[in-house]
Amino acid sequence: MARKKVTIVGAGNVGATCAHWIVSKNLADVALVDVVEGLAQGKALDLMQSAPVMGFDVKVTGSTGYEATADSDVVVITAGVPRRKDPATGKYPSRDELVKTNQGIVGEVTRQVAKYSPNSILVVVSNPLDAMCHVAYHESGFPSERVIGQAGALDTARYKAFIAMELGVSVSDIHGIVLGGHGDTMVPLPRHTSVAGIPVRELMAEDRLQAIIQRTRNGGGEIVSLIGVSAWYAPAAGTVEMVEAILKDQKRVIPSAVLLKGQYGYNDLYIGVPTIIGANGVERIIEMALNEEEKAMLEISAKAVRDVVSILGY
Ligand code: NAI
Ligand code: 2OP
Repeated sequence: MARKKVTIVGAGNVGATCAHWIVSKNLADVALVDVVEGLAQGKALDLMQSAPVMGFDVKVTGSTGYEATADSDVVVITAGVPRRKDPATGKYPSRDELVKTNQGIVGEVTRQVAKYSPNSILVVVSNPLDAMCHVAYHESGFPSERVIGQAGALDTARYKAFIAMELGVSVSDIHGIVLGGHGDTMVPLPRHTSVAGIPVRELMAEDRLQAIIQRTRNGGGEIVSLIGVSAWYAPAAGTVEMVEAILKDQKRVIPSAVLLKGQYGYNDLYIGVPTIIGANGVERIIEMALNEEEKAMLEISAKAVRDVVSILGY
């Protein structure tokens, strides 16, 4: 059987860490691409030199062009620029300017990968996540089943990690889910959170649970305040969870940013909901029965996503 192939665009913190974990798990050959000359090539070579020690047979290549990405099964898009001070003016870009900049980058990257891998499944990671999914969807011309955003996998992992830390139990026994957009309006669902099937509220005081929900919402910001740049280990882990589900046709239920077409009462909007992920990408969107409070929180999140999407001008 031919080996699977994954392209990762953006060989920065998240992209390179995705490559690291994909090869460590022997999942697929990896084509790493970055606009910075030498960066993807250097990281690919470094990873290849770890193969004899780590014992993987898959191959990693690095390039600035897209020829080496041809016929990938999955393409992960992490290219983008973070919100940083302009050294010339000393000013931060406005949110709209940053959205437009990343729209340009993700748009160009998407056109290239769609040209070389027309049958691939795109996993978008670049921020602002839900809006960048709209960009990849529009620019690729792919059906929405093949354009998926990674955010819920990360947000849910953070939520589960915090609960496991609080209760001193294995993370493997925590079940839970976080819906909505990737931002501080995300919607953790304590009503659907359990520890080996035991409702979390039977094991934890409400104020501790609410503190964990708040910490999850601020999960990205907490890391930025510690390191000065955004996280990469957990974001890459969440992304590779999705990539593996696609490559192995696992039919995993992973909260993912997908294009809603009437589900949850939303149309033409990318937002995080539980999704069955398999070889075809989005195999099914699961519509949970939310209560009024949960619906209201999802609506606040959807409005926040719509506000950013409106900047794109599609
Ligand atoms: P980074 O700055 O370390 O890496 C980004 C890379 O993209 C850089 O190496 C840069 O040279 C490259 N790049 C820029 N323009 C490009 C282009 N046109 N073509 C190819 N490569 C290009 O940033 P990091 O930390 O890896 O984050 C990447 C993106 O992922 C950011 O937008 C970040 O906000 C987002 N992110 C999303 C998460 C999620 O859960 N969805 C979690 C963490 C980060
Ligand atoms: C995170 O949640 C910034 O999206 C990035 O860590």
